[in-house]
Amino acid sequence: MTTASAPGKLILCGEHAVVYGRPAIALPLPDIRAYVEVVADAGNGVIIDAHDMGRCWRVADEPNNPLSELVVAVLEYLAVAPSGLRITISAHIPIASGMGSGAAVATALTRALAAHVGRNLPPATVSAFVYASEQRYHGAPSGIDNTVIAFEQPIWFVRSPTGSPLIEPIAIAAPLVLLIGDTGVRSPTRLPVAEVRRCWQAEPALYNALFDQVGALAVQARANLAQGDNSTLGMLLSRNHALLQQIGVSSPALDSLVAAAQSAGALGAKLSGAGWGGVMLALATPESREHIAAALVAAGAARVHAATVTIHRVAGD
Ligand code: PMV
Repeated sequence: MTTASAPGKLILCGEHAVVYGRPAIALPLPDIRAYVEVVADAGNGVIIDAHDMGRCWRVADEPNNPLSELVVAVLEYLAVAPSGLRITISAHIPIASGMGSGAAVATALTRALAAHVGRNLPPATVSAFVYASEQRYHGAPSGIDNTVIAFEQPIWFVRSPTGSPLIEPIAIAAPLVLLIGDTGVRSPTRLPVAEVRRCWQAEPALYNALFDQVGALAVQARANLAQGDNSTLGMLLSRNHALLQQIGVSSPALDSLVAAAQSAGALGAKLSGAGWGGVMLALATPESREHIAAALVAAGAARVHAATVTIHRVAGD
């Protein structure tokens, strides 16, 4: 038996604008993980048991399922044709909530299949498989989710229309105390992404200006992270939320969690991920953490996760 895991993720700033070539910052959540176990099960074909989703199927019976396609692609790449495998997925990351559940499952699955045949694939190879899998769910994802999860470190990400994205590890000089408030509303990424595209096509000047402002915030946020200036960073996050409201991807539930966190003393707060539901994040201090968590619950959060992003040193940053 082999097991592998992969972290969830948060987009700290820059979601949506990143689809249009502006920079964004994403953080892995090492303590919130998806797990995949692979066991040889000779003669039974390849079975995927996704018990969190209440589903179990034979790959040969559902060849068009995106996870079936991923398994076939990875086994082909590894040049192995097992007579039987049982693949068990335990996601532990809420689905369609902006925390990267789909990309984390795909990453853990790719790693577990490789480990099963004694291979350890480089993060870039894993990321490419996960990106192809994400395309099946989202159409044209920017690639930020698969990258931050497969590389499992804080990243700066800029999509390129022509070639590979720019991916840089970023420095974090002071720990980030984060609270993640889940609205409990599941929101598939492709829906707000498609609506933003429709709006951008209808009003390109307005939307390009909004994306530029988000991109400028990401540039400043990177500098604040490198300086350990979490107070200024918090203000930028709240400004990013206001821009996401203007882009049209917030919701009353997200706005009320963001406002509750701000009133309870958060340094800043914003929705995180595609929006319309899913999660928001609040940047707290060790002293304000409990109070903000209670305020999020009182404002209707279905769940509150706490995460601390540790200091991350990068040569030259
Ligand atoms: O999958 P989510 O909810 O974390 O959203 C991904 C971030 C977007 O910028 C909205 C889409 C993308 O492909 O980058």
